[in-house]
Amino acid sequence: MKIAIDGPAGAGKSTMARTLAAKLGYLYIDTGAMYRALALKALRATLNLNDPQELLDLALHTQICFEPDHQQQKVICDGLDVTEAIRSPEVSSVVSQVAAHPDLRKQMVIMQRDMASNHSVVMDGRDIGECVLPDADYKFYVTASLQERAQRRIRELQANGYEVNEEEIKKDIENRDYTDSHREVGALKILPDSIIIDTSDLTIEEAVAKILSFIEGAQK
Ligand code: DC
Repeated sequence: MKIAIDGPAGAGKSTMARTLAAKLGYLYIDTGAMYRALALKALRATLNLNDPQELLDLALHTQICFEPDHQQQKVICDGLDVTEAIRSPEVSSVVSQVAAHPDLRKQMVIMQRDMASNHSVVMDGRDIGECVLPDADYKFYVTASLQERAQRRIRELQANGYEVNEEEIKKDIENRDYTDSHREVGALKILPDSIIIDTSDLTIEEAVAKILSFIEGAQK
């Protein structure tokens, strides 16, 4: 069974996908974390984020994997634990730029398909239903209002000790939405076979229950 979850930043996708995978006993693959790990490595190596060749080389020479860690997952990049570093505002502000390069994306799609082969998976991102798992059994498009997504991001950053400016957070989310849905390859979009889940007024548990009702309902 393959479950694809796509949607814009801050809609609650990752928490939902992780919870869903744990409930079903499936592997969870957070593809956003993979793009973030590449962006972090690019920043640390002061690569030119507009140079497609440098970024393709980066993707070709980077090992990314996930390790179970209590209820969460650790993100390991070239043997280093980058779980927290990839959530920094610096990474958030450049990751869409890094993820926009078509050749880098091709390489990431190969890596992600490989991770999903021979497993039941819940995979979340932007292009999962269209590019990574076009034959997924279920494709969910998870969204929420900009206001709600910004509030969630603010709470998450504050919990991690960052100072936040609401307007800047909103601008950053809007910019990412724009870049993610207007790029040449792997753009975020609602597919004809997507099931839309709006989480603006739902808790994570309610949103997961909604997704499960589609899956379990179909299996009866
Ligand atoms: O889901 P997230 O916010 O952690 O994703 C980080 C960035 O990575 C986001 O701006 C878009 C990009 N991304 C992508 O282009 N394709 C994916 N499959 C997943 C994420």
